Amino acid sequence: MHFTRFWSIVEATHDISNPCTPQKLDRLIDLMGFHADQHILDIGSGRGWLDIRIAERTGARITAIEINPWFNEVARLRAQRAGVHERIDIIEADGRTVTLTDQTYDAGLCIGASFAVGGLAPLLDTFRRVVKPGGLIAVGDIFRITDTLPAALDELGPVPTLAGLVDQIRGDHEPLEMLVATLEDWDRYETRKWQAAQQWIAANPTDPEHDDLVTAVATMRHDYLHYERPHIGWAIVVARV
Ligand SMILES: C[S@@+](CC[C@H](N)C(=O)[O-])C[C@H]1O[C@@H](n2cnc3c(N)ncnc32)[C@H](O)[C@@H]1O
Repeated sequence: MHFTRFWSIVEATHDISNPCTPQKLDRLIDLMGFHADQHILDIGSGRGWLDIRIAERTGARITAIEINPWFNEVARLRAQRAGVHERIDIIEADGRTVTLTDQTYDAGLCIGASFAVGGLAPLLDTFRRVVKPGGLIAVGDIFRITDTLPAALDELGPVPTLAGLVDQIRGDHEPLEMLVATLEDWDRYETRKWQAAQQWIAANPTDPEHDDLVTAVATMRHDYLHYERPHIGWAIVVARV
């Protein structure tokens, strides 16, 4: 199953595709002090909850980069319904190849999608190039909560501690804020995938990819319970470029 279809099924009922709450994202918006004269870049924008909320609450203009056409369809519809579609430009593109102009944006957001640019280091290089000097960035990413990680998580590559994550994102500046996911946030995010998958599996018994999805969801649940939940944390860090 193509990864965009897989995620469109398992995250069919998510507003926010991360272990994060609307309250924490509202705090993030307050902290970043967005206003109507600003132009913000959001990489890996998902189903658009944060961008719509920013446009509604602050009037800022947002350019959103998102590869998944299923998510973009939902985000466009929601932006239209919220009456903020003229403030949000959704570009369906791969974050690794999309062209972004230097020193263009007042702020940069990438909430749980550094892999969309090839990893945390390339993401930070991109933000330091395309966000105007002194602008704010907010990056949500994983960190390790144990000294060593199981081999099953090797595919994640090197995972920093929380201190390492903050240091990498802040660069030469002091960090402004850190919003760390609770275990409850993680469980809410993950179990909602199980529920959405069960609904799809029950409703689509003859779909040619039905059995693939059953297997993929069982693997996802197993990996979460055995490897990710005990070893991996998640946080949004806010800093200046
Ligand atoms: C964990 S989700 C986060 C979505 C959103 N930021 C949120 O918090 O709800 C990661 C997002 O990155 C997108 N993505 C993955 N690879 C990408 C790529 N190469 N280019 C652009 N977006 C990508 C996924 O489709 C997904 O919407």
